[in-house]
Amino acid sequence: DNGRLAVIPVIDSTNQYLLDRMDRLQSGDACVAEYQQAGRGRRGRQWISPFGVNLYLSMYWRLEQGPAAAMGLSLVIGIVLAEALQELGAANVRVKWPNDIYLEDRKLAGILVELTGKTGDAAQIVIGAGINLGMRAPAAEAINQGWINLQEAGVTVNRNALSARIVNKLRSALAQFEQDGLTPFVGRWARLDNFIDRPVKLLIGDREIFGIARGIDQQGGLILEQNGVKKSWVGGEISLRPQ
Ligand code: BTN
Repeated sequence: DNGRLAVIPVIDSTNQYLLDRMDRLQSGDACVAEYQQAGRGRRGRQWISPFGVNLYLSMYWRLEQGPAAAMGLSLVIGIVLAEALQELGAANVRVKWPNDIYLEDRKLAGILVELTGKTGDAAQIVIGAGINLGMRAPAAEAINQGWINLQEAGVTVNRNALSARIVNKLRSALAQFEQDGLTPFVGRWARLDNFIDRPVKLLIGDREIFGIARGIDQQGGLILEQNGVKKSWVGGEISLRPQ
């Protein structure tokens, strides 16, 4: 395997680092940093990135199918992260549709996919993953949702081993996704799905939809069952429905 992995002490954002260098990159090139001064989350949020204790990783990929395939791609990334963490001893790690990694019903890791490219053209994609490994409460005061780190769950992983495993698995999973699409991943998602067969609330804009989560469809849409009828949704955020 001849892809590159840059290790950077301090950077604004590992995603930005690759976005700034896209013209010189090849699919599978990746970087990790010890600290991000301007770590980014989805929906314009900041990603709290204390020094040395977590994993901040980004990878470049040129997706020949174009930007329309990015939705499926982001689910594949979640599967890869969850499986890599499970293999290193975190047996209870799960995925949350479409883009989070969960442990004990709290957020363990987040995924941010940034892309450029018009419909019809190949898309230039930067995949970013932030995984909470050993972050402590003071650094994380600004986080306004339930979060957890691996150490709290009693799992210590070697960061180098984890980075290498994720990078290698991402390279082969994304190559398989380009060839075969999402189909080979749908069953893997179902085994990892934190919400499968649980009552959830889907929030799309200010609309609330209640149903039982039934996994994902072949396009990566969320399947919700309401009154015995299943329907797929794209977009929005799910949460557990209070009983
Ligand atoms: C989210 O859940 O909102 C997505 C968080 C993604 C964070 C990672 S950390 C590495 C990469 N660089 C960034 O600036 N963001 C992503």
